[in-house]
Amino acid sequence: MDTGELVSLVGPNGAGKSTTLRAISGLVAWEKEIKRRSTSGDIFLEGTVTFNGERIDQIPAHEIVRRGLVLCPERRRPFREMSVMENLLAGAYLQKDRIKSRETLDKVYEL
Ligand SMILES: Nc1ncnc2c1ncn2[C@@H]1O[C@H](COP(=O)(O)OP(=O)(O)OP(=O)(O)O)[C@@H](O)[C@H]1O
Ligand SMILES: [Mg+2]
Repeated sequence: MDTGELVSLVGPNGAGKSTTLRAISGLVAWEKEIKRRSTSGDIFLEGTVTFNGERIDQIPAHEIVRRGLVLCPERRRPFREMSVMENLLAGAYLQKDRIKSRETLDKVYEL
């Protein structure tokens, strides 16, 4: 996939679209690490993922997102184990400018 290119991944329900995106984002590797069992059993990882010329399949999800590869989950699902405030702050995870963060929060409260 090149800069400025838009790619669609199309397939029937259960084909593995979300899982493919979760694998690229490092979330499947994380699930494997915390030994969360998928419905079908153990998790096996094969192959490589390259982003901007760098291999990213060996680095954790929070490092991948820092490089600009962002997964936006479907159906606006919040993190259930976190408060509403913590969920809002999670959206500002990469924003280090606290004033900008505060301004965005104000905008969200207004909405
Ligand atoms: N490569 C794979 N090998 C084994 N199981 C897989 C693989 N990819 C996905 N699965 C399993 O298949 C099921 C469906 O996958 P997934 O949710 O990614 O599909 P989907 O295409 O996003 O479906 P939907 O269109 O319903 O959102 C999940 O239980 C997932 O763990
Ligand atoms: Mg899906």
